[in-house]
Amino acid sequence: MSYADVYRRSIESPDSFWLDQSRAIDWDTPPTQALFADNAPIYEWFKDAEVNTCWNAVDRHVAQGRGNQTAIIYDSPVTHTRQEITYAELLERVSSLAGALKAQGVEKGDRVIIYMPMIPQALEAMLACARLGAIHSVVFGGFAARELATRIDDATPKAILAASCGIEPGRVVHYKPLLDGAIEMATHKPDFCVIYQREQEVAHLTEGRDLDWHEFQFGTDPAACVPVRGDHPAYILYTSGTTGQPKGVMRATGGHLVALAWTMKNLYNVNPGEVFWSASDVGWVVGHSYIVYGPLIHGATTIVFEGKPVGTPDAGTFWRVIDQNKVVSFFTAPTAFRAIKREDPKGEFLAKYDTSSLRALFLAGERADPDTVNWAAEKLGVPVVDHWWQTETGWAICGNPQGLEPLPVKVGSPSVPMPGYDVQVLDEGGHPLKAGELGAIAIKLPLPPGTLPNLWNAEARFRKSYLDHFPGYYETGDAGYIDEDGYVYIMARTDDVINVAGHRLSTGAMEEVLASHPDVGECAVIGVADELKGQLPLGFLCLNKGTNRPHDEVVRESVNLVRDRIGPVAAFKLAVVVDRLPKTRSGKILRATMAKIADGEAYKMPATIDDPAILDEIAAALKTLGYAGG
Ligand code: COA
Ligand code: AMP
Repeated sequence: MSYADVYRRSIESPDSFWLDQSRAIDWDTPPTQALFADNAPIYEWFKDAEVNTCWNAVDRHVAQGRGNQTAIIYDSPVTHTRQEITYAELLERVSSLAGALKAQGVEKGDRVIIYMPMIPQALEAMLACARLGAIHSVVFGGFAARELATRIDDATPKAILAASCGIEPGRVVHYKPLLDGAIEMATHKPDFCVIYQREQEVAHLTEGRDLDWHEFQFGTDPAACVPVRGDHPAYILYTSGTTGQPKGVMRATGGHLVALAWTMKNLYNVNPGEVFWSASDVGWVVGHSYIVYGPLIHGATTIVFEGKPVGTPDAGTFWRVIDQNKVVSFFTAPTAFRAIKREDPKGEFLAKYDTSSLRALFLAGERADPDTVNWAAEKLGVPVVDHWWQTETGWAICGNPQGLEPLPVKVGSPSVPMPGYDVQVLDEGGHPLKAGELGAIAIKLPLPPGTLPNLWNAEARFRKSYLDHFPGYYETGDAGYIDEDGYVYIMARTDDVINVAGHRLSTGAMEEVLASHPDVGECAVIGVADELKGQLPLGFLCLNKGTNRPHDEVVRESVNLVRDRIGPVAAFKLAVVVDRLPKTRSGKILRATMAKIADGEAYKMPATIDDPAILDEIAAALKTLGYAGG
C-alpha cells in the first residue's frame, strides 16, 4: 500500500485502521473497538481491551523462540564496558525485579520514580513497573534535586528506583545525594527506595528506607504480567511548559503499544532481529519510545549507549557502535551531528569504520538545519530523515516512512504527517491557512493512539494548554507552514519553550529561579542562536534599587542558582545586568524582539513599545556578551 492510501484510511476510518494495526500486539482481552469519543474532546483508545506492555516487549519473544537473541546491547565508552543481554535473560531479570517490588507492596496503578543513568538496569526498572501495571516516571539525570522533588510531589510515588551515580565525561554525577536532597525537599515521601550500586561509586544507604538492588530481590518470587486496561497509564513523563511546574504527560498503555509497533517497520524500516539504535537518554521521550519500548515490542535489538557523540573517546564513537553492532537504523538529535562535524569536518574518523549496515539516519528533537542534514547525507550515503514530534505525542507527527514508501526528501522539512495526524496550519482566529502561509500548527482531534490522553492530575491545565485555544484541535505550540506537496515545515515555538542541544527547556522556569535571587528585581530569559546546541538561554537581570554589588558577582551567583535549582542540563551560562527591560505599554516583556536583536536579525519596532530607546540599551548589553553583532 502507498503512503497516501495508508494516510487517507487512517484519517477517514481511524477506528478500523487502528484496530487493524492492533493485531501486531498480544492482548489478554482483544479490543472490539479502537477509538472512544464519549469524553470528547478527550479521546481514548483501546479502553475495552486488556494487555500487558512487558509481555509484549519481553515474554512473548521468548515464547516465540527469540530467547537467545540479544535484546539489549549495553555500550558504555565512559566505563569501558560492553554487555549483551538476551531476551531470555531480560525476562529473568525483569520478572525477578518486579517480584521484589511486588513483595514490597508495589501494585497496579502505583507510581514509581526512576532516576537512573544509561545502564540496562534503567530499562529493567521500566519494564518491571510495566509488568506490574505500576506507572513509572523516569527523571533525567541532568536535573537538580529540586526538579526531582517537584516530580516526587506531583507523581506521589510509592517507590523510587535509582542508581548510585551517573558518569559524565570528566565527572561522576552523585545521584544519591541528589535523591536524598529531593526527598528531603519534597512533601510526599516514598515508602522505600531501591539503589543500584555501581562500581564507580557505592552510595550510603539510608537505614529503613533504602534497599540494595540485588539484596532486595533475594528470596522473592518472580512476578507474572498483570493485565491492565488499554487506557491504563503506562507512564508519566514530565516536560517543560511555560512555568516552573513541569507538565506530567501521560501515556495510555494500549495506544502506546499499537502506535510504536506500527512505526518500527513502517517509519524506521526495522525488522525483528535487527539492531536499532537511538542515541538519546531514557529520561527523554525519545528514550522511552525508541531505546526501550519500540524496539523491544518489535523483537529487535536495542542499544543502551552511555557516552557522547564526541570526547568518549573521539568523534568516531558513533561509527564504531554502528560498525560493531551492525546497526540498520540510527536515531539521534541534529546537535550530536553538529558536534561531530565540528570535530571531524572531513569525516576522517568515519573512514576507519564500516557503516554499510546502516539503511537510514533519523533526526529529531530540534530543527534539523540543512548544513547538518547535507553533511550527514554526504558522509554516510544513506537517506537522512528529519522527523518531528513532541513528548506529548510520543511518536512522530511528521516523518518520511522508510519502510512503507520512502518519499522524496526535502531538506528543511520533516516531510509528511504520519497516520492519524490531521496536521493543519491555523491563523490566530483558528482558520486554516493556505499552502505556504505561516501560522500555528495544530492537529485536528482526535490525535492518534500513543499520544497523550491527558496530563497527570491536571485536566484543566491539559485543556488550557492544548485544547482551548483552537476548539476541535490539539495546539502543538510550534509554528510553521505546509507546502503545495503537503510537506510540513517547523519554524519556531509559539511559547516560551526553547530547545538547547535537543533538550526542551522553559525560559519561564529559569526566570522563576532568577527572580528568587535577593538582588534581582526583574528578569527575562530568551533563547539565542548557537551553532552547536541550536539555542542557548540568555538572562537579563535588573537589580533591585540600592543594590550596588559588582554585576559580575550577581551574574555568577545567578548562573549557579539555575544550575543548582534546575540542573546542568539547563546550560544556563550567559547573563547580563541591564537597567530596564523593553516592554509593551501593557507591561508585557518583549522577549521575541530581544531574541531577534541578539541573533542580529531584522525586527519590526513593536508599535506598542513603551520606550524604544531601551532596545539600544539591550543591544549594547548583548554586545558585551558577543551577541547582537558584538
Ligand atoms: N546527567 C547529569 N548531567 C548531565 C546529563 C546527565 N544525564 N546530561 C547532560 N548533563 C550535563 C552535562 O555534563 C553538561 O554539564 P556541564 O555544564 O558541567 O558541562 C550540561 O548538562 C549540559 O549538557 P549538554 O547540553 O548535553 O552539553 P554537553 O556539552 O555535555 O554536550 C552535545 C553537547 C551536543 C554533545 C550533547 O548535548 C549531545 O549529545 N546531545 C544529544 C542530545 C540528545 O540526545 N537529545 C535527546 C533528544 S533526541
Ligand atoms: P520534546 O517534547 O522535548 O520532544 O520537544 C518537542 C519540541 O522540539 C517540538 O515541539 C519542536 O519545537 C521541537 N522539535 C522536535 N523535533 C523537531 C523537528 N524535527 N524539527 C523542528 N523542531 C522539532
